[in-house]
Amino acid sequence: MKDSSFISKTAKISTPFISSVCYIYGPTMIGNESIIDSSVIIGYPIRSKSKDIMTKTQNSNKLEVFFDEKSSGSIIGNRNHIRPFTTIYESTELGDHVETGTNVVIRENTKIGSGSIIGSGTIIDGGVIIGRNARIQSNNFIPPKINIGNDVFLGPGVRFANDLYPESSRLIGTDVKNGAVIGIAAVILPGIIIGENSVVAAGSIVTKNVHDDAVVMGAPAKQVMTRIEYDRKKAEFEK
Ligand SMILES: CC(C)(COP(=O)(O)OP(=O)(O)OC[C@H]1O[C@@H](n2cnc3c(N)ncnc32)[C@H](O)[C@@H]1OP(=O)(O)O)[C@@H](O)C(=O)NCCC(=O)NCCS
Repeated sequence: MKDSSFISKTAKISTPFISSVCYIYGPTMIGNESIIDSSVIIGYPIRSKSKDIMTKTQNSNKLEVFFDEKSSGSIIGNRNHIRPFTTIYESTELGDHVETGTNVVIRENTKIGSGSIIGSGTIIDGGVIIGRNARIQSNNFIPPKINIGNDVFLGPGVRFANDLYPESSRLIGTDVKNGAVIGIAAVILPGIIIGENSVVAAGSIVTKNVHDDAVVMGAPAKQVMTRIEYDRKKAEFEK
């Protein structure tokens, strides 16, 4: 099969598992035994760097060379699996054993801790920190200034907002503390703290901080039980 990849000469790649159809820009580092699937892009330069693209590419006529020169690269740890059509922008760092589903976008200045899984269709819109062993299900939207702790579960389609009065000039972040669970299609308004080991029920709209170990539900979300009661119900359900 014809190899139509573009692999930067400045990239440092320590794995043999690189698809013949992928694009790796800038001084990207890819660790041992990581799998880079087809149509994956790593080290994609940020928007502002593409401004002079029209003038700069006239001569070379090769977009990939332009992107490569612009890119600061990204770091992908050991034993990652980056699935098809994932785009990882430059200046992003993934730990070890990280997996993405298909069609994931991870924009610049994002850090993802080891063992985390990022579900298909998820958009991490840059400037996001995700801890270790986070399970981010499909179609999440995580904009800048969101911090997600270790062992957090986000159900499918969770939406975080970071601008309370759009389009304002002030974006504010949200902290999701370790061990929190957020149900499917929950909406988290800007500047919220989702407490440690707390649970947000499916479809909730969270407008106020959630205490540690609290379970909240509804729109606006209100506490309905404790994490201890939730875990008791869960254990009963699993029997
Ligand atoms: C929070 C949750 C665990 C509560 O479960 P529960 O305590 O067993 O709740 P019950 O089914 O006994 O329902 C209690 C009441 O809350 C209501 N309710 C349950 N879940 C609700 C929700 N997400 N939003 C609003 N009301 C809800 C029920 O209709 C019921 O109301 P009623 O007393 O007027 O009849 C569960 O509803 C939930 O949201 N789980 C998360 C599911 C999810 O997102 N999974 C993600 C992976 S697919």
